[in-house]
Amino acid sequence: YYIGIDLGTSAVKLLLMDETGSIANIVSREYPIAFPHPGWSEQDPADWWAAVCDGIPALLDGFDASQVKGIGAGGQMHGLVVLDKNDAVIRPCILWNDGRTQRQVDYLNGVIGKDKLSRYTANIAFAGFTAPKLLWMQENEPDNFARIEKIMLPKDYINYKLTGVHCTDYSDASGMLLLDVEHKCWSKEMLDICGVQESKLPKLFESWQPVGTLTAEAAQTLGLPADVVVCAGAGDNAAAAVGCGAVGGGKCNISLGTSGTVFITSDTFGVDKQNALHSFAHADGGYHLMGCILSAASCNKWWSEEVLHTTDYAAEQTPITADKLGANDVYFLPYLMGERSPHNDPASRGAFVGLRMDTPRAALTQAVLEGVAFAIRDCVEIARAQGVKIKASTLCGGGAKSPLWREILANVLGIPLTLPQTEQGPGYGGAMLAAVACGAYPSVQACAEALVHAKSTTEPDAALVEKYNARYAVWHKLYPALKVSFA
Ligand code: XUL
Repeated sequence: YYIGIDLGTSAVKLLLMDETGSIANIVSREYPIAFPHPGWSEQDPADWWAAVCDGIPALLDGFDASQVKGIGAGGQMHGLVVLDKNDAVIRPCILWNDGRTQRQVDYLNGVIGKDKLSRYTANIAFAGFTAPKLLWMQENEPDNFARIEKIMLPKDYINYKLTGVHCTDYSDASGMLLLDVEHKCWSKEMLDICGVQESKLPKLFESWQPVGTLTAEAAQTLGLPADVVVCAGAGDNAAAAVGCGAVGGGKCNISLGTSGTVFITSDTFGVDKQNALHSFAHADGGYHLMGCILSAASCNKWWSEEVLHTTDYAAEQTPITADKLGANDVYFLPYLMGERSPHNDPASRGAFVGLRMDTPRAALTQAVLEGVAFAIRDCVEIARAQGVKIKASTLCGGGAKSPLWREILANVLGIPLTLPQTEQGPGYGGAMLAAVACGAYPSVQACAEALVHAKSTTEPDAALVEKYNARYAVWHKLYPALKVSFA
């Protein structure tokens, strides 16, 4: 067996994969997210570890734990985890969708300059990236900053607890704005700008490389043999791409999770000239471009649970029949946590536009699903403007479970969307990386070819694509028009 860990924002999802690639068991454990100030977003790394320690024995219940060979994690990206000299967590992790660093982002992009940042790292600064958070800590929590001994990303904290090795992988490290992505080494210039020494940063690995085996303590806590191999793992989007078979150049994977991402693979390094898409390393040894919207399935969760007080998402979608698609006159902007791609604007906010006295509840639900699809299209259009051809994509994440959302997205993007056998993208990808680390496959590519199979494809309909093109054109004008109300 191989264990895949998807260290997400709402929960950790654990998956047990057997030698044939079949999923033997899935267990998930939720943990809280704190918004201590508007636009801030934090989690306690101790909650992640407690969820893993509680979840893995449950995952193994009824299975022969002595047969587990490897563990691989995909984790929420960009979060700043800092430990002191006693390995104690100094402050809660500042998450990928936290918007507190606007000042530091302005300094990096404006004073240091986008050209230099792009030269050093292949990317410009966005509020959720790790480097601006280090600057924020230095300015706002100087005592905490002075105590930093180790810097790591969320899934690296789990790997550290598992193995005692301070490590990360290139795909996740790419999102720190500290890595020279093209050359796969830490950027000396960026470390100087952020006032950190290289000794505080994790050792770099390829995602499928083994970083160590379990410590005696971790093996005992989890009920696993001590010789279980832990691989470096990946950022959740790269792990999801692996789990969905978006490996090797020219592929696309879209994730509808808490965030929404468009992940475009490439065998060679490349940068989006407008820097609207991230240029990161992939978990297969190659590279990728990525657009990330901060609120995707989380918009539907917010709308259903916070506003409508229901968790029966399917029932809310039942009245949205085929004739309603492309014919809704309500629009929704999904910027509930501000927005990363393409606006890079932490101050932006969500909005419903076009309400009437006779607007039914289902039209608002539909507008939420469509607004997220339009925001994903914004990312796809930027890639298309760079000459990237996106003719089809795989799809994963919680939102992919909704047939209606899949149909809306396929028609808004005008491309077929294929669901793999499992929508457990990052967890499955993590288990696959572990299988490669244990020598079961010679490469990530070979593993993906052997294990990832399509389940179903949602094809776009030409007439509906036309209708959604017209609606997207209107939706696209709303953010600039409403921007003045967000300040
Ligand atoms: C990617 C990003 C999100 C998180 C979600 O840049 O910030 O997709 O990785 O967990």
